[in-house]
Amino acid sequence: MRLDTDLLVIGGGVAGAYAALTACREGANVVLACKTSLRGGATRWAQGGIAAPLDPGDEANHALDTQRAGRGLCEPQAVDVFVREARAAVEALVDLGVAFDPQGALEGGHRRPRIRHTGDATGDAISRALSRALHAWEGRGLHIKTRAFARNLRLAGGRVVGADFLTPEGPLRVRARGGVLLATGGFGQLYPVTTAPPEGTGDGLALAYRAGAALRDLEFVQFHPTAVVAGKRAYLVTEAARGEGAQLLNARGERFMARYDSALELAPRDVVARAIAAEIAATGRVDLDLRPLGAEWAARRFPTVAATLRPLGLELGRDLIPVQPAVHYTVGGVQTDVQGRSTLPGLYAAGEVASSGLHGANRLASNSLSEGLVFGARAARTALAESVLAFAEGDPSPAPGADWAGVPALRERLGAAAGVQRHGTELRAALEGWGLAPAVQPDPAALEAANLALLGELLLRAALERSESRGSHSRSDCPAQWQTPLHTVQWWDGREARQAQVPVGTHMLESTP
Ligand code: SIN
Repeated sequence: MRLDTDLLVIGGGVAGAYAALTACREGANVVLACKTSLRGGATRWAQGGIAAPLDPGDEANHALDTQRAGRGLCEPQAVDVFVREARAAVEALVDLGVAFDPQGALEGGHRRPRIRHTGDATGDAISRALSRALHAWEGRGLHIKTRAFARNLRLAGGRVVGADFLTPEGPLRVRARGGVLLATGGFGQLYPVTTAPPEGTGDGLALAYRAGAALRDLEFVQFHPTAVVAGKRAYLVTEAARGEGAQLLNARGERFMARYDSALELAPRDVVARAIAAEIAATGRVDLDLRPLGAEWAARRFPTVAATLRPLGLELGRDLIPVQPAVHYTVGGVQTDVQGRSTLPGLYAAGEVASSGLHGANRLASNSLSEGLVFGARAARTALAESVLAFAEGDPSPAPGADWAGVPALRERLGAAAGVQRHGTELRAALEGWGLAPAVQPDPAALEAANLALLGELLLRAALERSESRGSHSRSDCPAQWQTPLHTVQWWDGREARQAQVPVGTHMLESTP
């Protein structure tokens, strides 16, 4: 099957859905391809909320909080664009029917309660509103294709002109005059224990890399401080719980955060995650105590969390909740500028798949949903403005090949070496023998495995090269921070894998050949 369109958007989370909606409103024809369903992916799972300046006077403060959390590695232009546009983007959700609670919330790293939420199911409300709005465009320029797995991009004269998909009905080729906008989310599934959804296998990053686009800062993987881990599953307890006054206690019952940061439980995520890991190592366990909030109030304010924990025998506000850090968010991604352009003409990216430069070395809580809106809309508009006149067939970028059976072992290896605390010796050992025997099987599970294997190797190489501790990357063998903050950039030059470190502010085209 073949479809021709103005813009191909891959991924239906907040960034992809809002990009597609923006393009439809601009009068464009759009194909929106999703690996599972329109409401699949991480957006629906987001609990806490969506951060945006409370008013124009809060923009500078929000920028400062974002930069502080980002530990010197935020791109100032991305932060500036974000704080200027996030509030209007969030208001646009209200126009689409999202009923935010009247009171803003606090989360770690924010000095003002600028997080809008709908109880503790904010992502679900946003995802519902966006999918409702998109369905209204179906048949009026929008084609939604679910269960479409992107196998490779197509390039003509160095420009991305479309992509090939595997679907239950057979192969699908999409040609797009405006190119391809990736909004496929992160790679949390690279780790054995994660709060990321099953779709989080980094497909967009791998697609972009194989086609020659630069990836940036893959070593920065954000651990959410408070997950309840049962077997291999991690259940999130939203950071908003600490925003409302929940406390962290070690096995001795001590409220320990004062020893790590003066902001206590509301320190940025990297600090809280490391503190919890250290206290678990020293005392055996850490609990989140919501008892000061009262059982009835806690269950009313956090119904999703309460319902998730009840089957585990935990009553919110009555019981101490045993928590530990779990992989939550892919901070690095496909390198983009503030217009959503990757380093490859015709390829755009927004949301968790992208490295817009907003998050630096450690994302500020709840900045990701609003980032998806701001940069999803920008990327869509840029792609349409840079459309070419004619459709092109193009040649396929390299497709992945890997041994599915190897991936569970790789996950364990990566989880052990590239966790909250890392060490060069362990990173090096994890890399040894990482390569997998290619066994090309054209089915989504095998391709996801290949994507994970590729990204795991790139992550380890980047983490090894970063011989410092900064934000969510902490090395016990290199505790100091480099004086000059540097990004890690990785790309495939058509013959070999390349890696470089470049200063903040380096224009993307200068950082790749
Ligand atoms: C949470 O609710 O704690 C998650 C929010 C986020 O990841 O930004």
